[in-house]
Amino acid sequence: MSRAAPVRPKGFHTAVRAHQVLGEKTCESRFKALHRTQPTTLVGRRKELDLLLDRWDLAKDGEGQIVWLSGEAGIGKSRLLQALQQQLGADGGHRLMAYQSSPERSASALHPVIAQLEYAAGFLPWDDSLQKLAKLEALLQRDVQAASEFVPLFASLLGLPAAGHRPTPDLTPAQRSAKTLEALVLHLEACAARLPVLLIFEDLHWADPTSIELFGMLVERVRHVAILAVLTFRPDFVPPWTRTGHVTLLSLNRLDRRDAADLAERVAGGKPLPAELVDRILFRADGVPLFIEELTRLVLESELITETVDRYVLHGSMPDTAIPTTLRGSLMARLDRAASAKEVAQLAACIGRVFSHEMLAATSTLEPDALRAALDQLSNNQLIDRSGLPSAQVHVFRHALVQEAAYQSLPKTRRRELHARIADVVEARFPDIIAHQPEWLAHHHAEAGHVGRASECLLDAARHAKSSYALREAAAHLEKCIAVLQDAPVHRCG
Ligand SMILES: Nc1ncnc2c1ncn2[C@@H]1O[C@H](COP(=O)(O)OP(=O)(O)OP(=O)(O)O)[C@@H](O)[C@H]1O
Ligand SMILES: [Mg+2]
Repeated sequence: MSRAAPVRPKGFHTAVRAHQVLGEKTCESRFKALHRTQPTTLVGRRKELDLLLDRWDLAKDGEGQIVWLSGEAGIGKSRLLQALQQQLGADGGHRLMAYQSSPERSASALHPVIAQLEYAAGFLPWDDSLQKLAKLEALLQRDVQAASEFVPLFASLLGLPAAGHRPTPDLTPAQRSAKTLEALVLHLEACAARLPVLLIFEDLHWADPTSIELFGMLVERVRHVAILAVLTFRPDFVPPWTRTGHVTLLSLNRLDRRDAADLAERVAGGKPLPAELVDRILFRADGVPLFIEELTRLVLESELITETVDRYVLHGSMPDTAIPTTLRGSLMARLDRAASAKEVAQLAACIGRVFSHEMLAATSTLEPDALRAALDQLSNNQLIDRSGLPSAQVHVFRHALVQEAAYQSLPKTRRRELHARIADVVEARFPDIIAHQPEWLAHHHAEAGHVGRASECLLDAARHAKSSYALREAAAHLEKCIAVLQDAPVHRCG
């Protein structure tokens, strides 16, 4: 299959013209700044990073620590944790265990834990259940003594038949749930006994109730274990656990003016931007790093400035409307500039913050080459990131707010159409999702207005959660089912 030529970002041709006039070096820097794949250097946050490193020193010597890292959207919680990982990267003597929750999965019991186990065991999309079971057994044998006791519980959690293993005795749902959570905590403790663990749980505000219960148990148990657990959340979430001596609350504030200006300049690749423009960006962004980044990129992509050898200069006067007043406005403007790729971003936003290439390709009407080109453009414009093997690629919106902006940019009728398309494709081609993630399918049917099928899937989800002993999630699915039925239009005869 021939590879499509990469789609150039808007402004690229202007950059090429400028390149001919100004010489290679100047243009390269603007192009590089716009297409940087690495995050910009961490700006400020020295005290916060030192605090985390201090807690790590205690934890790795066996005095387990919990840090609750709180801050508004885009303030830099994930970025700070990246910096911590970079610092610890050199020390090599630790294990990273990363968990991530998402709004689409907030009613799926232990979804972040399942995803982490699947990742740690090295599951591939084309593995059959026997191959997955073998990988799970290998993981547990490496991590815990008496691994065979853990296999049936973990296999059941991952929806795998534990062939060849002693079945777990008959237990009540509550006993079964408690046993699974206990096994998960024991597994973490065993991992930490081998090598100090840096445990990161991102976006607790979207976590399912069972994950909250599990990490609540960990908060209690971690005290004498070599684990530093950093749990991030936005300020509207209050962790429902007691805050004891080994728990530190770290709240991230907005960047001060100097750091904010530093960030804008770094996003511009280190080349000074016109002072008037920087003033406007800083005024609008008000110290929120994501907003600073987005506005600076918007300006770099625009015709407002021209690049010279040692700086950017303003191109004429700057209209009042040049700088969007809200973060959402700025993200929308950047999506608009992505032109044809915007439609792919909108479809992807309906699928979720993380979307597999397989699912996107199955639901998109674009030819494979055109789809790849659109994804190249979104990636070049730093709106999405990619990971995984080319054959099993996974894409992720760089930030939850980018996904939200793409979703919000869809008119309601178009949203319904896209959700309907996703639901229909899943029904026809993804039996695994129907069997194991009916709540996800239900969400698409509900948003598409397919009331009957949405409620059936929610009932399946409730049964599935009950059989996995996640009773709170089962109740949540039933409540959602009632809400879907209540919202349905009533057709009266006569
Ligand atoms: N101190 C910093 N230095 C450089 N870049 C930063 C800094 N803080 C944040 N950023 C950048 O700002 C953007 C938003 O940061 P991040 O994703 O960490 O926010 P967040 O607090 O995790 O938001 P959310 O609650 O939505 O997950 C990222 O692109 C990140 O690289
Ligand atoms: Mg984050």
